[in-house]
Amino acid sequence: MKNILVVNSSLSSENGNSNKLTSKLVTRLTSEHNGLNVVERNLNEMNIPHLTMEEMVAWRTDKTARTSAQAAQASLSDTLIAELQQADAVIIGMPMYNFGVPSTFKAWIDRVARAGITFKYTETGPQGLLSNKKVYLLAARGGKYAGTPKDSQSQYLKDVLGFIGLSDIEFVYVEGLAMGDDAAQSAWSFAEKELDRLSA
Ligand SMILES: Cc1cc2nc3c(=O)[nH]c(=O)nc-3n(C[C@H](O)[C@H](O)[C@H](O)COP(=O)(O)O)c2cc1C
Repeated sequence: MKNILVVNSSLSSENGNSNKLTSKLVTRLTSEHNGLNVVERNLNEMNIPHLTMEEMVAWRTDKTARTSAQAAQASLSDTLIAELQQADAVIIGMPMYNFGVPSTFKAWIDRVARAGITFKYTETGPQGLLSNKKVYLLAARGGKYAGTPKDSQSQYLKDVLGFIGLSDIEFVYVEGLAMGDDAAQSAWSFAEKELDRLSA
């Protein structure tokens, strides 16, 4: 493992619980492994826009035929995909907002799931084109849902990341953060042990 991509999307940026989880894992990994190169993509701070049809048309236009506006539009997706392709491991900080992923994270997914680049369809169905990357999915939640049918967020993440070839995923949850100090404290101490185990 050499290159790590960190994707954060908490509305609270570095004060977000999911950002705290990602930085705890980065601290552990960089102290265990020498010479790691860490790139952070903070979707909240970059205020990533919703995908538009104009932008998709820019992707589909041959590079040599793009107008300068189209070249600028296509560069966002190209950059985000290149960051993923270069990563050996991807650490995703994942807040739960209204049972789902942050809208900025969905906008990131809309840029990195691109036909012919990160997935393709074959006669037997879709095939992800990213490979050999470990994903650490570090989730922060006010309530407790992991392992229950209400956790559609985890299922969505498995499905959509698997679709582009990212199927080797380790989940760590810090849950019950809005359920009182004791629940929050024990959630953090459980998560710290999980992070120790994953970085060892
Ligand atoms: C807009 C919003 C919606 C939320 N919706 C949920 C929810 O559906 N389920 C839940 O367990 N917690 C929910 N929470 C609590 C967050 O999951 C919790 O604050 C978590 O720490 C968010 O991650 P962050 O601190 O990294 O932003 C919500 C918080 C906000 C701000």
